[in-house]
Amino acid sequence: MNLVIKPARSLRGTVSVPGDKSISHRAVMLGALAEGTTLIENFLPGEDCLATVNCFRKLGVEISWSGQDSLRVQGCGLEGLREPEDVLDAGNSGTTMRLSLGILAGQPFFSVLTGDASLRRRPMARVVTPLVRMGARIEGRQGGNLAPLAVRGGNLKPIHYNSPVASAQVKSAVLLAGLFAGGVTSVTEPCPSRDHTERMLRHFGAKVDVSGTTVQVVGRPRLLGRKITVPGDISSAAFLMVAAAALPGSDLILQRVGINPTRSGIIDALTAMGAGVELLNPREEGGEPVAEIRVRCTGKLTGIAVGGEMIPRLIDEIPALAVAAALADGKTEIRDAAELKVKESNRISTVIEMLVSFGAAVEELPDGFLVRGRQPLKGCACRSHGDHRIALAAAVAGLLAEGETTVLDAECMDVSFPGFASVLKEIRAED
Ligand code: S3P
Repeated sequence: MNLVIKPARSLRGTVSVPGDKSISHRAVMLGALAEGTTLIENFLPGEDCLATVNCFRKLGVEISWSGQDSLRVQGCGLEGLREPEDVLDAGNSGTTMRLSLGILAGQPFFSVLTGDASLRRRPMARVVTPLVRMGARIEGRQGGNLAPLAVRGGNLKPIHYNSPVASAQVKSAVLLAGLFAGGVTSVTEPCPSRDHTERMLRHFGAKVDVSGTTVQVVGRPRLLGRKITVPGDISSAAFLMVAAAALPGSDLILQRVGINPTRSGIIDALTAMGAGVELLNPREEGGEPVAEIRVRCTGKLTGIAVGGEMIPRLIDEIPALAVAAALADGKTEIRDAAELKVKESNRISTVIEMLVSFGAAVEELPDGFLVRGRQPLKGCACRSHGDHRIALAAAVAGLLAEGETTVLDAECMDVSFPGFASVLKEIRAED
């Protein structure tokens, strides 16, 4: 499916974005391992999270819809999963595959995990290595680096793992495996990555301690089913924030968005660029901070340098940020972001290709890219490479460009932002 985007004059009004993808995955997984019922509201019914639901159904968990975006998970307890009869398919979702591997490593049965062509190219050694150290047997192509992966789990021992990458998926896989090991399992990362697993584990009753960049979990906890209301996804909000920051006359309020400090780098980056971003009514819901985000166009965006510890705080928002950079005064440099190469697409090349197709001036760097701003964007036909965040970034660039844009293969937007086109319709102000 192609999506045609016409330039917008401004974005105005109040709107909600779909539920957070990272939190939705975790709610299903911890709900499955808990005793009793977990009710998940504002669950993201995108393809990635649906893949997690399907995998856990195949592991014997009863999961039913109790509304369009409300799920009821009948937990089986820590020892209640059962050997799946078929291969588990994580689709396009790295989070499904890596976090499930952590859980499967702890199961006394055999399972096989696979995914789509993109996921089967993404590195899994980063989770397989620590899980094998804990005692799981995991086989796959390239010495266990590439899916399909066959897991024979059980009998895990706790470890301390020094992760070479700041990755919440790696940290979470080890912590989830640690639930099945007697004793304390801990992970140290080079700098903090998103901490939704830690927060949710606590919410379900596990003992989790954090000291600096080290997190530890006590094994074999009793997890109890909970009610979880998933905050709006800041990664989806980011696309609308960028458009509102750039379109003169915009004044947009995004309701109940997650503003967890390990995820809110985009707020800091847009603020540093000169956008008018305000947090209204900040509060905590179910262990996660949320707020309304108000974005106004100040008419002046300036390029910035982003790198170091900021990168994990906005890694998924870099495609959106790149569009803001193309319109800003001066240059924007993204560094220390080599992780972009192993996302749903190689996002260093696909972001560059996307910006170049709109006429922006971009240079590739070994660990990022440099955008020279203030080039007028021209509507074009833009490839998504099957990557939801590239498709969404192209749609935002289309709102800001002259002339019409066609986002090719735009159906992948449903991975994280189902209903994007109708949300856009609600807030587009044409006069
Ligand atoms: C995620 C962690 C990040 C992020 C991904 C979701 C998660 O990946 O890019 O979209 O839910 O834990 P890494 O852990 O590979 O950095």
